Amino acid sequence: MGSLANDEGVRRYGQPAARRAAGTAAVLAIGTANPSNVVVQRDFPDFYFRVTNSDHKKELKDKFTRICEKSTIKKRHLYIDDALLAANPEMTSYMAPTLDMRQAIVSQKIPELGAAAATAALKEWGRPASDITHLIVGSTSGGSDMPGADYHLVRLLGLSPSVRRVALYHQGCFVGAAALRLAKDLAENNAGARVLAVCAETNVMYFRGVDDAHFDNLVCQALFGDGASAVVVGADADTVATGERPLFDVVHATQSLIPETGGAIQGLLREVGLTFALISEVPSLIAKNIEAGIRDLLDSAGVDVSVDRNDLFWAVHPGGRAILDKVETALGLKPEKTQASRKVLSEYGNMGSACAWFVLDEMRRRSAGDGCATTGEGCDWGVLLGFGPGLTMDTVLLRSAHV
Ligand code: CAA
Repeated sequence: MGSLANDEGVRRYGQPAARRAAGTAAVLAIGTANPSNVVVQRDFPDFYFRVTNSDHKKELKDKFTRICEKSTIKKRHLYIDDALLAANPEMTSYMAPTLDMRQAIVSQKIPELGAAAATAALKEWGRPASDITHLIVGSTSGGSDMPGADYHLVRLLGLSPSVRRVALYHQGCFVGAAALRLAKDLAENNAGARVLAVCAETNVMYFRGVDDAHFDNLVCQALFGDGASAVVVGADADTVATGERPLFDVVHATQSLIPETGGAIQGLLREVGLTFALISEVPSLIAKNIEAGIRDLLDSAGVDVSVDRNDLFWAVHPGGRAILDKVETALGLKPEKTQASRKVLSEYGNMGSACAWFVLDEMRRRSAGDGCATTGEGCDWGVLLGFGPGLTMDTVLLRSAHV
């Protein structure tokens, strides 16, 4: 039996050095998944106003069409379709009590979608699912059951029953970045740990009808898409025996709140589902504070804060076209620096927490396609940015891999 002295030793000195990893955590694999139903943005105003019986609201439809056009989204993948709405017609109203029917769908779809993305990540990683030691699951739309999506993922993926789970539910879009920060801490503080992190979202929780006064609802209906992404994170990659291949080192991460902006993005879970409130200043509030956030990240990582922003690669949360525009301008970035984020926005819309690793996936794929020397468009260092309610800003400093 362990003595009190040993317990005290653990408490005073933390984990013995031998149980910490020697190196920096890295993303070792990325997987993504979307529902098969594709919605073309050009056709969406007709669909949305038809299924919500709102075709007579011509001015609102014109406004919605303008928002859809300006979103630069070409298509999205959505579980919402005619059949789902025919079976759940109350979801087409603006404020009908619909939480039970939404939950019934989401409780099944989020674990399924998350498992599809995780399966793709595990396949790229190349080691058995039973080697995963920690599981992080993030979801804003699918995080209210007990046991939750994290439990179902253990079952669906055949993970070990002793996998250590952490759930980041109902937090918002910054969770992809926050999960990477957490995965880094877990991987670096537990030698040999392999962390599977999964984020999954569906707008089944927030799809609703038109309201004459709430224009931010129109913005949400035009932006949000369904998708899941997953990463395997670990330190001291075993490149020889198991063929692990680091894609991005997770070097440093910070989180900060932008003062006095708690009401800028709100997601309230009510009888009517998850309602979003979004003020139109969100893009400028982020832009106003982004340079300070980047300086803080670089400074606390011990990196030269004056590094030319265009010498870095950028994975910016594609929350909306205006967010990407304003961040680009505030940081003085060349247009090509936000192309990976813009491509994800254009092909999938804003998939909340799942977006971050879609952007990293796009980044390493386009880097390979363009024959770049690194997974980060030829740059050695880069920054991943997550934004969400709070307003919360998560920043992650990444180092790309040479290929
Ligand atoms: N609320 C209400 N109306 C809004 C609005 C808002 N937040 N943002 C824009 N609008 C309206 C404008 O008033 C305008 O109406 P009219 O055409 O009638 O004048 C219309 O939308 C189009 O706006 P603009 O002409 O100014 O066009 P734009 O260039 O700004 O493009 C947009 C519109 C694509 C929606 C753009 O404003 C945008 O990308 N906004 C960012 C959206 C945003 O906040 N995303 C974050 C989502 S939340 C998130 O990602 C995190 C999370 O945790 C969930």
